[in-house]
Amino acid sequence: MRLLVCGGAGFIGSTFARQRVREHGDEVTVLDKLTYAGREENLQDLAEEPRFRFLRGAIEDREAVAKALETSTAQAIVNFAAETHVDRSIAEPDAFVATHALGTYVLLEAAREHGLRYVQVSTDEVYGSIEQGTFTEQSPLAPSSPYSATKAGADLLVSSYFHTYGLPTLICRGSNNYGPYQYPEKLIPLMVLNALHGDSLPVYGDGMQVRNWIHCTDFAAAIGHVLEHGRPGEVYNAGGPDEEANITVVKRIIALTGAAESQIEHVADRPGHDRRYSLSSQKVRALGWSPRVRFEEGLEQTVAWYRENSWWWEPIRSGDYRAYYERQYGRPLSGPTAGA
Ligand code: NAD
Ligand code: DAU
Repeated sequence: MRLLVCGGAGFIGSTFARQRVREHGDEVTVLDKLTYAGREENLQDLAEEPRFRFLRGAIEDREAVAKALETSTAQAIVNFAAETHVDRSIAEPDAFVATHALGTYVLLEAAREHGLRYVQVSTDEVYGSIEQGTFTEQSPLAPSSPYSATKAGADLLVSSYFHTYGLPTLICRGSNNYGPYQYPEKLIPLMVLNALHGDSLPVYGDGMQVRNWIHCTDFAAAIGHVLEHGRPGEVYNAGGPDEEANITVVKRIIALTGAAESQIEHVADRPGHDRRYSLSSQKVRALGWSPRVRFEEGLEQTVAWYRENSWWWEPIRSGDYRAYYERQYGRPLSGPTAGA
């Protein structure tokens, strides 16, 4: 297949691009704005592949999208492009509205013009928080943050293009991803790097919030299954095999890095913090997908990857991220490479 992968320089999009080129022989063109979270380094192992191409551009830019479709002659669009950090959506929601609403609209119009299959990558957060039980594709949308509300809006727009114009759209909603190349504003990479550097480990509130962890290679494979085998107009949930309270995850990271429990610091809770996510994957399993990586093994491999790949995170931890960290946590990080 020839694919236009929007947001493919990010954490999950780059995993997907790698999988499609290497394991499926697809021709992949990545279109990415390269925000703070998007990095060409995430794709550097694909740079020499003849079946891979990178284009810098924003999904809300009609001309950039038109050019990308012309260059790639894509048969399908897979849209990962998003602002993805809940805390940033609370502090500065603007870009979330622009990318999720306008960007998704521009891509849908382009897909309509060219008659392309369209996959929207979405999140379990559109369903809101669930105390008990598990969300299915029939659960009502009840997003809590500017991030999840704008993602839910984008999903509704995608569905409207199926109902109104018959565009073959699909939506794949994932639970919390983890693995290599994840920007260290998210819980797991932030805690791993702070643990390795002797920095404090900032746990929001009581740390008893539960997340449903899925390895990024499993989510990328689920999206590939939906792309190939999903029924147009449908939503497919892909949840991970394991649920864990945040504090348990942090304690496992401490054990894997040799850090000290005294590094844990309970800090002010996130406003409107969702208590628990849980996602049933029966429908995507019926397409032949199942997750391969259990959390215990995946977390160990992830910690090892961050230990061994300081080339990837050193430029982040010594750059603008330091100012972000200080704004968000009210304290500076230790020296760029101290203790690692
Ligand atoms: P990420 O932040 O690592 O990557 C997002 C990518 O999108 C970056 O490369 C960024 O440069 C690009 N981008 C942002 N705005 C853009 C724009 N306007 N035009 C073009 N490119 C733009 O995010 P991720 O964790 O890889 O998430 C990818 C997708 O998966 C998102 O849609 C997210 O909502 C969804 N998702 C993420 C998770 C998770 O746990 N990380 C779980 C479920 C779903
Ligand atoms: O559920 C899927 C979603 O998972 C994706 O759609 C989002 O793009 C992705 O960012 C993620 O959202 P979360 O808010 O669950 O992820 P985050 O890593 O920000 O936080 C995970 C949990 O850890 C959450 O309960 C908040 C808590 N946390 C996070 C950070 C960064 C802390 O306790 N301390 C922290 O410093």
